Amino acid sequence: MKTLYLTNSESDIKTAAAILRDGGLVAMPTETVYGLAANALDGNAVRRIFEAKGRPMDNPLIVHIADVSDIERLSLTADFPEKAQKLAQAFWPGPLTIIMKKGAAIPDEVSAGLSTVAIRLPSHPDARRLIAESGLPLAAPSANTSGKPSPTTAQHVINDMDGRIEAVIDGGACDVGVESTVITVATDVPRILRPGIVTREEIEAVIGEVEVDRAVLNKLENNEKAASPGMKYKHYAPRARVILVRGSDKNYTDFVNRCFKRDGDCAALCYAEDVESIAAPNVSLGSKSDLKQQAQALFDALRAVDELDGVTTVYAHCPTAQGVGMALYNRLIRAAAFQVITLPDKHIIGLSGQTGAGKSEVAAILRELGAGVVSADIAARQAVEEADVKAALSAAFGDVLNPDRSLNRARVARIAFSSKKNLRLLNSITHPRIVEIMLDMAAGCEQDIVIFDAPQLFEARADVFCEKNISVLSTREKRLERLIRRDHLRREEVELRMSAQYDEEFFIAHSDRIIDNNGTVEELRARVKEVYGRLTDGTA
Ligand code: TXA
Ligand code: MG
Repeated sequence: MKTLYLTNSESDIKTAAAILRDGGLVAMPTETVYGLAANALDGNAVRRIFEAKGRPMDNPLIVHIADVSDIERLSLTADFPEKAQKLAQAFWPGPLTIIMKKGAAIPDEVSAGLSTVAIRLPSHPDARRLIAESGLPLAAPSANTSGKPSPTTAQHVINDMDGRIEAVIDGGACDVGVESTVITVATDVPRILRPGIVTREEIEAVIGEVEVDRAVLNKLENNEKAASPGMKYKHYAPRARVILVRGSDKNYTDFVNRCFKRDGDCAALCYAEDVESIAAPNVSLGSKSDLKQQAQALFDALRAVDELDGVTTVYAHCPTAQGVGMALYNRLIRAAAFQVITLPDKHIIGLSGQTGAGKSEVAAILRELGAGVVSADIAARQAVEEADVKAALSAAFGDVLNPDRSLNRARVARIAFSSKKNLRLLNSITHPRIVEIMLDMAAGCEQDIVIFDAPQLFEARADVFCEKNISVLSTREKRLERLIRRDHLRREEVELRMSAQYDEEFFIAHSDRIIDNNGTVEELRARVKEVYGRLTDGTA
């Protein structure tokens, strides 16, 4: 099918209206995002929307009207309660969708089998002209491929829908940029199912107390039912993996820069104020204080990060969830598939080194000197007892649980160390969670400087959270001697263990400081003291 590209001229609107009356699909601008419209009273036409978008059939659509009187005139709802009328009066025409009991005229395709229907009277002049000209209520979801960011320009629509719909009307870029606030009045206390730029506070000023559905800000558990089916799907996602990063401005930009330096394949989705400090490719949402501007820019930005060359991960600076920020947070957390990193407000220092080099001694001295110490070994022990980790390990390596459902660690170790591939698999399951636990532990430390004591600091990619990385080195002979003495191992066993580790060059290349531990305990103490002094007076 060839998709007609229409303007908002009188005659083009007439053409589009005729397509709709014939059961066709037209993408139309609204003040929020572009909608993919069909005659809401025609189940067959509506079904084609689901096909064009690849949208699950259990996700209901919003019915767009040109005048409040359409609601009763066309039997769109069985009940137009007082609170809904007040909301309509206060916010229509505009970016608010009200869910009420559905009326006799609504086909099942629109409500996806629910007993309710969502209705909205948009303020965009082109949308209103089209609805009025067609003489129909229009069912219209956002005009993107299901799962992709919503379109805020006609070009976005073309990118997703060309050849799949009869026409698109170009009405320029959308002002609001995020979809309407969705509120249901079919519950005892009205409840916001999707936040938009009409905020909870503004709504409460008109109808009193409202609730915010749990799914707005949280991931639903597997057994939880979504009040709004749209909330359960992955959403707004660009091709690159998005991770939401919570933390101070400085911690965020430092973190992104370290990730970029290390991996070279990430980008930042940030605020205008961050841009100057970020070395990685970036897309700005605008000024940190201007939430409406950020909302306007959001979907375009999510599409723009995909056009950056070689970017596989996008670190998005986490917005506040207050006021209009709730709408931003809600979209971003879904774009991120609920992956959030919280950077502790600490100075984190990585400490690594080969087995037997004396890392633990250095950690102990640093602790005495006043640093907090977070042990990767302790975090690892905690991680492998978590249900999700155990499930992933069982899925990867077969039955690795003891009869009491605890992890059979000896068994896991045996399997993991039997091949490089298995070891990589084990690490890919456990490392991310171990690092998360370490970040939590760091946040809980009372000290300002926190040491990440981690033999696999670099393998676990924990070094990107550290302002500086220190490695402890000593000669092969010294390490052998210490390990044989400390762990009562045979020389061959120690050699086997040592051969699995990075060599000295690796640690030298990846560390900001090397602490040499080939001398006496006193010498070691003096060196650590010197390094710590530099860390605390900022000259490190
Ligand atoms: O701003 C907007 O609302 C845009 C423009 C085009 O009007 N439309 C839009 O539609 O965002 P859509 O389909 O992408 O999102 C509608 C959301 C979905 O999450 C859907 O599950 C929910 O509203 N919804 C629709 N009817 C519902 C109902 N009866 N009960 C609960 N949720 C409903
Ligand atoms: Mg949508």
